[in-house]
Formats: sequence, structure tokens, C-alpha cells
Amino acid sequence: MHTFNIDHTPAEIVRLFPKASDLFKENKIDFCCGGDKPLRETLAKKPAINEGELLQVLNDTYTEWKEEGNKEVDWEQVSRIELIDHIMKEHHQYLHQELDPLSQFVTKIYRVHGQANPHLRQLHKLYHQFKEDIEAHLVEEETQLFPLVRRYEDSGDPDLAAKIEVLNKDMEEEHQAAGDLLKEMREITNDFVPPEGACNSYRITYARLADLESNTFEHIHLENNILFKS
Ligand SMILES: [Fe+2]
Ligand SMILES: [Fe+2]
Repeated sequence: MHTFNIDHTPAEIVRLFPKASDLFKENKIDFCCGGDKPLRETLAKKPAINEGELLQVLNDTYTEWKEEGNKEVDWEQVSRIELIDHIMKEHHQYLHQELDPLSQFVTKIYRVHGQANPHLRQLHKLYHQFKEDIEAHLVEEETQLFPLVRRYEDSGDPDLAAKIEVLNKDMEEEHQAAGDLLKEMREITNDFVPPEGACNSYRITYARLADLESNTFEHIHLENNILFKS
């Protein structure tokens, strides 16, 4: 059992207690792309957040979560191959299934409500930029990076390790760009809260965008902070 404090990094906290990601998202605390700095540093730049209250909520929800019988996943004990299988199943498959239908929703609400809500044009642009970038990113991981990791785990060949390191640097930059696009989408959509009286399509689009953000932040967190932690 841990007690979290401001010397822990958001990435460490989410690794032990995945549900902390909800609290971090609410408070716009990065735990995936720039999550490896101590909470102290992030909070110093966010004077509106009460540090004591945040830690209290974090530790209380963690205690409740443990009392409900949840267990921390010790990722150190999970092989890289198992972790890749998990990422493929929970995150890559999700994106392969979700990106096209969600694109139709984003386009539909822009078409129908764009005049009254000009930010929907920007949302349409950001979403499709994200979609295009992440689709290419998935191809690179699935056809290059992950097969190299599987081969390396089999052979321990140092040449492969060097190639993985080079490729992973590009992937990390792409994670940062994808994370930034999601943050911008959250920003312009009032934290994915639809306006009062919004139609069903509007609500569904925002709810699915919020899920996309959660799933992708978790995805990037696993790749940056566990799979390829240097
Ligand atoms: Fe991935
Ligand atoms: Fe990735």
C-alpha cells in the first residue's frame, strides 16, 4: 500500500493506480507524454490546483480502490511480449474500430451545427489530423517496432536493440504530437461537455471523443513509461 506525495511522478502513480488517470485528466495533469516529472513540478505551474486537496482525493480514491479488492498490476513482472499483446488488444484494435465511425460523427455535427458553433470546424480539423497521424503511427508500430521487439526478446541481439531505440525516439515524438492534439480538442470543446440542449449526435460525439482521449492517454502511457522506459 502506498501513500502518494508530490515527489511521485504522475506516470508512476498511474502505473500503480490506473484510475488516477481520471483525476489527472480532470486537472489537466499530463501522465503520458510529459508524465515523468515529479508532481511537485507540474503543480508549481498550476497555482489554481490546491495541492493538499488533490493529494487527499488521490489517496482517498486509491484506498477505496484497494478496499474494493483491486490489485496493482506489477508491470515489471509482465514480459514485453505480453505487454505488446495487451496494447494491441486494448488500444490498437480499439483505434482501428473507432476512428472511422467517430470521423463520421465529427463531420456530421460540423455539417449540421457548425454555423451556430464555429469551434466545430476546428474540431473537425484537429480530429482528422489526429486520425491521419495515429493511423500511420499504428502502421509503423505494428509492422516495424513491435516485430523488432519480439525478435529482440527472442535473440537478445544488440543490433536490434539499437534499431529499437532509434525507432522509439520517433514514436515518442509522435505520441507527444497526438497528445497535444487531444489536449487541444479538450480545450475547444469545454472538456467534452456539449452545450445545453445539444442533440444526440452532438452528445455521442463528445462522449466518444472523451473515450478516445482516455484510451489514447493510457495507450501512450504504457508505451512511453513501461514498454520503452529507458
Ligand atoms: Fe501503440
Ligand atoms: Fe505508440
